[in-house]
Amino acid sequence: MKGLSEVQKAAVEELLAQMTLEEKIGQMNQESPSIVGGFDVPFEELIEMMTDGRISKQEFEHIMSSATQDFHEDAIRKGGVGSLMVQDPVKVNELQKIAVEESRLGIPLIFGLDVIHGFRSVYPIAIAEAGSFDTDLFERTARMAAKESRAAGVAWHFAPMVDVARDARWGRVSEGPGEDPYLGSVFARAKIRGLQNDHSSTDNYVAACLKHYVGYGACESGRDYNTVSMAMHLFYNAYLKPFAAAVDEGAMTVMAAFNDLNGVPCTVNEFLLRKTLKESLGFPGFVVSDANAIRECVTHGIASDEMDAGVKAAIAGMDMDMGTGIYAKNLKKAVEDGTVPMAVIDEAARRILSVKMWLGLFDHPYVSEETMARYTVLPEEHKALAREAAEKSVVLLKNENNILPIDPAKKVALVGSLAESEEEIIGAWAMSWKKEDCVSILNGMKETFPNLKYFPCGGPEGDISMDEVIAAGDYGDVIVAVLGELVSMSGEASSRADITLPGRQRELLEMLMHTGKPVVLVLMNGRPLALQWEDLYVPVIVEGWHLGIEMGHAVARVLSGEKNPEGKLSSSFPYVTGQCPVYYNHMNTGRPGSKSKFTSRYLDAPLGSLYPFGYGLSYTEYSYSDFKVAEKEDAFEAVVKVKNTGERDGRETVQFYMQDVTGSLVRPVKELKDFRKVALEAGEEKEVSFTLFKKDMGFFNNEGIYCLEEGAFRLYVGGDSRNCLMEEVYLKEV
Ligand code: NOJ
Repeated sequence: MKGLSEVQKAAVEELLAQMTLEEKIGQMNQESPSIVGGFDVPFEELIEMMTDGRISKQEFEHIMSSATQDFHEDAIRKGGVGSLMVQDPVKVNELQKIAVEESRLGIPLIFGLDVIHGFRSVYPIAIAEAGSFDTDLFERTARMAAKESRAAGVAWHFAPMVDVARDARWGRVSEGPGEDPYLGSVFARAKIRGLQNDHSSTDNYVAACLKHYVGYGACESGRDYNTVSMAMHLFYNAYLKPFAAAVDEGAMTVMAAFNDLNGVPCTVNEFLLRKTLKESLGFPGFVVSDANAIRECVTHGIASDEMDAGVKAAIAGMDMDMGTGIYAKNLKKAVEDGTVPMAVIDEAARRILSVKMWLGLFDHPYVSEETMARYTVLPEEHKALAREAAEKSVVLLKNENNILPIDPAKKVALVGSLAESEEEIIGAWAMSWKKEDCVSILNGMKETFPNLKYFPCGGPEGDISMDEVIAAGDYGDVIVAVLGELVSMSGEASSRADITLPGRQRELLEMLMHTGKPVVLVLMNGRPLALQWEDLYVPVIVEGWHLGIEMGHAVARVLSGEKNPEGKLSSSFPYVTGQCPVYYNHMNTGRPGSKSKFTSRYLDAPLGSLYPFGYGLSYTEYSYSDFKVAEKEDAFEAVVKVKNTGERDGRETVQFYMQDVTGSLVRPVKELKDFRKVALEAGEEKEVSFTLFKKDMGFFNNEGIYCLEEGAFRLYVGGDSRNCLMEEVYLKEV
């Protein structure tokens, strides 16, 4: 394992030699505090109540927090638990003390949690942050999240989520870096470095967990947990790519996905876990199942009962069982009767212990009082990073008549109930945030626009107040309408079959347009939305996603022009839901869509996406010229001039794409190969260059063999995936 010294490796072996079979299986068991009651209705009923809206998510969480919980102290004492999901440092220390002082071998627990886009400092959701195209930022936000969580005893993040996701109906597109395997790989590598590489103290790094391995983002029809079938060339060239990159960067753990891939659930998929991940990619860490996934193999119909599911998972290479207790209950018998080889158990225990050793948990199992006190009040530096990330992730989609930026002296009518909410800016999966750190759009805007008045008018749910609409129209020189999705509409188990603005918000927009005042639509959402109507009629559209605790300041600074927007889309936006999945790097067909009837198109939707991958405007303009490519022995060197032709300084993301024109397999119409963020003052021009190594111009075939083929290639450069300059080159002698 990368980073583990010979002494540490020897210590792991020494420990293994002393462990009983039960103790080894104990390491393979992850528990979360089980709810044992303390409320009037059964737990299942409570979940249904939240799902059908009888209680809100907040009420549900409140009930849960006061429920009686079992932290599995007895099992810990017996060495029967390897990991737990807890985030309270006092509880962490209490449970750790049992493991270290009362279990026979004193092996520390590893505490894990979903820290997807920040811990206490909540940053933009990943789909948004990826659109900043800022590799350094990806790394810095991860590093900060690692420090904050370690102070709460959480040494293991179930992140980054690096599923390539191309169907916006899937709620979990919010959690990952979007549709592109290259951007996904850059994001994945940066997150691994940020989470894992600061070893200046054990308080500063955590073990990352790549998820969800693999293909989860391709769930059929965008419905969560649904089946996945894909050609193997797509698997190797797209869906596996970010995982392979992150393993290469040193990712310590991996979580298997819920779905089946080509008929075999990832949880029991030996080809994926053992052959591809551990053998081909050389992954040295451990694999954990997703929550309850081993049990679900029975429901999938791949295992006859729990014992069968546990056996299949262990043999496939699943090292840790999240939350079912199936390993704990069944593996001993399975080993004793010869169904599961002892070597499988030894390997799993070795991998888990090695990660614990690498984390320094044997030497520093507890959270010190000093560390715990580190972030009692969120430091300014942390807020500043959250603000920077939020500002860089805003994407300007449309700005007719330069309505933006808005002069702060103007009378702004702020509309939309999302604007006042602190809960709704944080995005799905934020679990450790505090309301006191959050700046709602209303509060952020008030600081910048002294003549602002707020008229809720309506939101994603409920009715429209006509009186407030009229009052907003009467008051404002400009109307800023904050509309979109509730946090609960994206993330896990939150697929939507219609991805237009939910509820009556389009109607609300129409009413606002009728006031005759200029309308600025600020979107808050966790997925690309179908915005055909809005793009036709609303003059200004700003994609604000769920930007985290500093969203209010970020939006205010962008709208006032203090910050020139620089974000780009990490995922294409369709015109209408029926186009999903829509993505820029699709395969070529024999009949590419055109105006002509017998081509690949819809009768009732325009061609392609409404806003493509890589797209995003700013308050200045950039021109591209003199794109030239020179051939070197092992590479093509591309160079282009990029000029800021407007009157404001800005930062442009220069994108470099490739198309393999003719190959032994059909290839995507474009593939991102590189990008560069370039700061340009008003009027300034810079030369931007890219090196495309010939060895990187190939692809994997259906057998997983890398093919580098002679032939014509097109190279593209531009400010988005659609509008590019192009040069053709010929790759020979390969
Ligand atoms: C289920 C989710 O799919 C996964 O992303 C998460 O890490 C686990 N539950 C643990 O909460």
